[in-house]
Amino acid sequence: AFDVELASSGKVVTVPAGRTVIQVLAAHGVDIPYSCEEGVCGTCLTGVLDGVPDHRDMYLTDEEHAANDQFTPCCSRARSAKLVLDL
Ligand code: FES
Repeated sequence: AFDVELASSGKVVTVPAGRTVIQVLAAHGVDIPYSCEEGVCGTCLTGVLDGVPDHRDMYLTDEEHAANDQFTPCCSRARSAKLVLDL
């Protein structure tokens, strides 16, 4: 599990194994647009202000992955204990 913080509100939610960031945020009333849910389309792309994503998409380039300033919350997770999202 890891935590996700919404930069605009400071709200923190925990994403357990087996659930996606999109699913958990939606359950808290935060709806991120998505389409493929498997890291292909980039529809769900979300800015990352702090923390290190565990990128599991095929949409971003290696360089974009390495920058760690955006990720695809439909399938990607976190390597750090917390991600702060530009939401
Ligand atoms: Fe397609 Fe996330 S919904 S990459």
